[in-house]
Amino acid sequence: MAKLQQQHSNTAGWAPPSVQKRWLLTLLIMLSVSTLIAFFIKSAFDSCDPPHPHNFDVAASNKPAKVFSNSIKTAPSPLSFMKSKLVLLVSHELSLSGGPLLLMELAFLLRSVGTEVFWITIQKPSETDEVVYSLEQKMLVRGVQVLSAKGQEAIDTAFKADLVVLNTAVAGKWLDAVLKENVPRVLPKVLWWIHEMRGHYFKLDYVKHLPLVGGAMIDSHVTAEYWKNRTQERLRIKMPETYVVHLGNSKELMEVAEDSVAKRVLREHIRESLGVRDEDILFAIINSVSRGKGQDLFLRSFYESLQIIQVKKLKVPSMHAVIVGSDMSAQTKFETELRNYVMQKNIQDRVHFINKTLTVAPYLAAIDVLVQNSQARGECFGRITIEAMAFQLPVLGTAAGGTTEIVVNGTTGLLHSVGKEGVTPLAKNIVKLATHVERRLTMGKRGYERVREMFLEHHMAHRIASVLKEVLRKSKSHPHS
Ligand SMILES: *[C@@H]1O[C@H](CO)[C@@H](O)[C@H](O)[C@H]1NC(C)=O
Ligand SMILES: *[C@@H]1O[C@H](CO)[C@@H](O)[C@H](O)[C@H]1NC(C)=O
Ligand SMILES: *[C@@H]1O[C@H](CO)[C@@H](O)[C@H](O)[C@H]1NC(C)=O
Repeated sequence: MAKLQQQHSNTAGWAPPSVQKRWLLTLLIMLSVSTLIAFFIKSAFDSCDPPHPHNFDVAASNKPAKVFSNSIKTAPSPLSFMKSKLVLLVSHELSLSGGPLLLMELAFLLRSVGTEVFWITIQKPSETDEVVYSLEQKMLVRGVQVLSAKGQEAIDTAFKADLVVLNTAVAGKWLDAVLKENVPRVLPKVLWWIHEMRGHYFKLDYVKHLPLVGGAMIDSHVTAEYWKNRTQERLRIKMPETYVVHLGNSKELMEVAEDSVAKRVLREHIRESLGVRDEDILFAIINSVSRGKGQDLFLRSFYESLQIIQVKKLKVPSMHAVIVGSDMSAQTKFETELRNYVMQKNIQDRVHFINKTLTVAPYLAAIDVLVQNSQARGECFGRITIEAMAFQLPVLGTAAGGTTEIVVNGTTGLLHSVGKEGVTPLAKNIVKLATHVERRLTMGKRGYERVREMFLEHHMAHRIASVLKEVLRKSKSHPHS
């Protein structure tokens, strides 16, 4: 493996065809091997899922980081002012879920400008865990210093640090448990990065120190608004200065998305494995299978769209629904319900269940439309949405949460409402995109342009940089430091 990384690490963006073929081959090999998690570092962020050690989210679009890490960009990083600063990152857990992987992205961005970065994981499995081990190795290789969550070293580092980033609401437990009476001394330099929007996070236990931290960073305006309302109404506490930071696509993802050869090969490979033809139209949800992500309602819409097409005798290519994110062992009841529905409606040959995977790029290359059907308050952000747009895919999304800040209704996709009321509108939108090829392609292109304008890694780095600057400035002027 080390060899493969070596071979490819110097590949330039315009790599000659032979080199491109080589890494394509590598990617294809990796597609069929699931244990190579050590490669998969960059991740999409699929928020709003309760952090759970085994709930790693398929929207996490991980790519073989090294294979594509070949850009020779010279523009100075907006984070360069962080050089030789000391930052402590506190993660509630270390897993392949969106939260921790996003924090790791920040760790690597900071390392790349020469920041001294320390990492603490609060909850670790007691037995040796392969995932934890390989992620820690990955960090050590990149010069991130991994500390034990408790003990004097953790406390000393928190004192010394210019900035402490707490990742997710639950990470708040660490403050009292470890810093004890020293909490007030550290609070002004704490930046709290929040990615969740569920009721059970509104516990004073977790978030009572929120009002006094240096700042909160939240993935979308709706989520920030929600936190503001809920902390006030439910807990009677006030949010600190809050910054909305939309996420961005990694360079690695963009490189695959913008490589037409790669896309074509991946598309053919996946379509062949699904047994669908090049001209068939694929609508996909890429999210861990659970009621909150709305796969059940999507299947109902899909079935309804088939009926509309039949009744109206519309001429369209064969349509398929792809559900990437299946995990029979985790959501057995819901999964069974989905499969029963498919059997009952006799659409087995049109619905494809794919096990959850960290490699979403091949699926994005293979499908025609992304469906983002998250229910209730929707996604906090929904990184898969911007990843799909990078692949020039239109998005059919629920008008909720972060999706409304990413998708421009009517331009880069079409929105429908959450719940049962959304089933028929989504069915009609499916028919619309199936019958209007030109419109579908134009929407995809507009989505791509929107990503280039505001959802790239450097956009995210700029947004994060201005938040870090602000929090540093304020904490410096604070009497405690
Ligand atoms: C927050 O509260 C305001 C006023 O009560 C309301 O208009 C708004 O919809 C709420 N926002 C969220 C996200 O709950
Ligand atoms: C998908 O996961 C199930 C267990 O949840 C397993 O039995 C099955 O073999 C997996 N399928 C593939 C194609 O890996
Ligand atoms: C989205 O736009 C369509 C028209 O293109 C409109 O009919 C629909 O109500 C809009 N949906 C939302 C949620 O704004």
